[in-house]
Amino acid sequence: MSRPRVITISNQKGGVGKTTTAINLGAALSERGLRVLLIDCDPQANATSGLGVNSKELEASIYDVVVLGRPLLEIAVPIEHVPGLTLVPSTVGLAGAELELAELPLRESRLRLALDGLSDFDYVLLDTPPSLGLLTVNCLVAADALLIPLQCEYYALEGLTLLTHTQSLVRQSLNPSLRLAGIVLTLFDQRTVLSSQVVAEVRRQFGDQAFTTVIPRSVRVSEAPSHGIPITQYDPSGRGASAYRALAEELVNRDSRVAA
Ligand SMILES: Nc1ncnc2c1ncn2[C@@H]1O[C@H](COP(=O)(O)OP(=O)(O)OP(=O)(O)O)[C@@H](O)[C@H]1O
Ligand SMILES: [Mg+2]
Repeated sequence: MSRPRVITISNQKGGVGKTTTAINLGAALSERGLRVLLIDCDPQANATSGLGVNSKELEASIYDVVVLGRPLLEIAVPIEHVPGLTLVPSTVGLAGAELELAELPLRESRLRLALDGLSDFDYVLLDTPPSLGLLTVNCLVAADALLIPLQCEYYALEGLTLLTHTQSLVRQSLNPSLRLAGIVLTLFDQRTVLSSQVVAEVRRQFGDQAFTTVIPRSVRVSEAPSHGIPITQYDPSGRGASAYRALAEELVNRDSRVAA
């Protein structure tokens, strides 16, 4: 059985739609019949709560995997209301991992080692915290590809240089095969000229590295996590669900080109 594709959803800027993309892209991929493992690598545990899992009731989390070396599948939780989607949850206790990892051997590669031999999934999606600390570095080292959500706002491109610089450092030292899966523009507001200007600027600078699909700002998308379900179920025929389905399709098509 083949190895899953591991995609880290990263941007050290906060609130750009990393978690929203992890949950809804994961759900859209699983709707296509693909088996998806979503790993919540953020102590904020938003991907965990957004899928209806109460992190306070958990006996174990990704902390046990990266710090204590516990097998990943021991703590994976199938999300029953989203067939095909499995979650490795996070809890606030993961915050301690940043410091603890610094003292451990192979501190940048612990997640990669934990993913070794994993074969029951088509995609592994990593939701990362808004920082470039050791948790995010572990995700960049474990991943085949980096997917960058970029918010359609004035400062969107600020910080992207830092992220791409980190990507090159990781490529040079720890993970030479890390490629860019693509940039996805999020929180697009059709009423503002600024949103369209950001899209145009990103396309000018990054060409087809930016996905054609743009994720619209939608109240329904922001409401879905409080119900513990992805947008594909909360508002299945709305703009948000359509956009995440289109993103899933683009990703799968791009991946089949890479594999060919
Ligand atoms: N397309 C969208 N339409 C409306 N609201 C959105 C959309 N995408 C994200 N949001 C909202 O914006 C906020 C930030 O999104 P999200 O939590 O996904 O970002 P993040 O990058 O994971 O944040 P952090 O850096 O804190 O982890 C959330 O309240 C979320 O519900
Ligand atoms: Mg998040």
